Amino acid sequence: MAGDPAGPLRHRVIHTDAVDGRERYQLLTSLVVPRPIGWVSTRSASGVPNVAPFSFFSAVASSPMLVSLSIGTRGGVAKDSLRNILDQGAFCVNVVTEAQLEAMNRTAASLPPDDDEFAFAGLSVAEAETVDAPYVADCPAVLECEFHKHVDLGDSGGLVLGEVKGVRLDPELTIVEGSAFVDTQGLRPVGRLWGSAYTLLGEVRVLPRP
Ligand SMILES: Cc1cc2nc3c(=O)[nH]c(=O)nc-3n(C[C@H](O)[C@H](O)[C@H](O)COP(=O)(O)O)c2cc1C
Repeated sequence: MAGDPAGPLRHRVIHTDAVDGRERYQLLTSLVVPRPIGWVSTRSASGVPNVAPFSFFSAVASSPMLVSLSIGTRGGVAKDSLRNILDQGAFCVNVVTEAQLEAMNRTAASLPPDDDEFAFAGLSVAEAETVDAPYVADCPAVLECEFHKHVDLGDSGGLVLGEVKGVRLDPELTIVEGSAFVDTQGLRPVGRLWGSAYTLLGEVRVLPRP
């Protein structure tokens, strides 16, 4: 009922300034769900290919076509992916589908910057067409991105915006007739919940807009 005081009073409100960073992370990652996974491939200044998953990843705009990534720090130092994007000005976002779930997980290992994570995870590397970055050859869909903007988040690392210059699609994917929509049932995307939990495509409901 509108205005029913019992509604709002049932809630427990956690003041985020009163809890520690771990709790804030746990609340955020269990409530903003499911999240798409940006599986980001880059190359280091010395030419080593790198690939790692980031679920603080989102679509931002379509014209220009922008995506965002929030990349944290490790021991107070920027992760390899962030450093590579800033050094090289390019990256690819490989869409994680059911077939890539386990390989994606292997690439979350913390390896030294000079170790090739493609080789470590048993992945084939290929070169993007529109930007100077590698991509995961077996991925059915890849966004080839040019570095657009970096927002320094201090201890939380950095927010990167990338402009998608090329959309690479496996010809096996179905495009919905009369549009550029990629059929989701054929894509089989994976979403991240919290911790090590993932979700596969479940029931799809279609609701026409009022
Ligand atoms: C599914 C998944 C999502 C992740 N999302 C993020 C994220 O959004 N931001 C982040 O900093 N680390 C995230 N991580 C951890 C990084 O993938 C991990 O630190 C990785 O080693 C970074 O690699 P790099 O140093 O080669 O960049 C995630 C890990 C997994 C398995």
